[in-house]
Amino acid sequence: ADPFEDALESLRAGEPILVHDAADREGETDLIYHADAVSPMAVARLRNDAGGLVCVALGHDIAEAFDLPFYSDAIDHPATADHELGYDDRSSFSLTVNHRDTYTGITDEDRSTTIQALGEAAGSPDGTAFAEEFRVPGHVHLLKAAPDLLAQREGHTELGVALADAADLTHAVVVCEMLDDETGEALSPADAKDYADRYGFVYLEGGEIVDRF
Ligand code: 5RP
Ligand code: ZN
Ligand code: CA
Repeated sequence: ADPFEDALESLRAGEPILVHDAADREGETDLIYHADAVSPMAVARLRNDAGGLVCVALGHDIAEAFDLPFYSDAIDHPATADHELGYDDRSSFSLTVNHRDTYTGITDEDRSTTIQALGEAAGSPDGTAFAEEFRVPGHVHLLKAAPDLLAQREGHTELGVALADAADLTHAVVVCEMLDDETGEALSPADAKDYADRYGFVYLEGGEIVDRF
C-alpha cells in the first residue's frame, strides 16, 4: 500500500485525510477534505474532532481570479506591518466569507453551503461572479496558496492544494487543526495517527508529500 496514493483516493472519495506539516514548522496535524465533500456532518467532524480553525485553501490562480488578496496586504492597520510568524515567511490568510444563501454563516449547514459553493466556484473561476455569490466578512477563513505551491511554501495550504492537484480535483480543500482536548495544545503526531487508525483515515507527513513533487 502507498499512503500517498491512498490519500489521493480518499480525497476523491470525499473522505478526510490527516497531514502533519513538520516538527520544525507548526508541528500541527490538519484534518483535510476536498471542499466538494464537506457536508454538514463533515463540518461537525471538523469542529468536534479537529477543533481548530475551519479554513478553505484555494490555489493561487483561483484566488487571483476571485480578486482575493492576502489578508496582510489588504488591511491597512499597523499590526499587519510586521507579520512575523516564527515558523514561516508569511501567513496564507486571505479574507473570510459566507455564501449569500446562508443566514448567520456559522451553523454546520451554513458552513457546508459556503464550503461546497467555494469548491464549485473553484471548478469554474471564470464563470463565477464571486461578489454576487459570497459576502465578506464571513465564517469561513480563506487561505491563498503560494503561486508555485510546494516550491515556495510547505504549509498545509500548499500541501492540501498540491494533493488536490495530484488527485485531479479542483484546487479547493478544507483544512482544520487537530487540537488536544486534554492539554489544549496541538494534537501530537502519535495521537493523530491513533485517530486516523480508529477511523481508517490516511495519515501523511508533509515530507512524504513534498517528496512526491
Ligand atoms: C489556519 C492555520 C493552519 O495552520 C492552516 O494549516 C494553514 O496554514 P499553513 O499553510 O501555514 O499551514 O493556521 O488555521
Ligand atoms: Zn497549518
Ligand atoms: Ca496553525
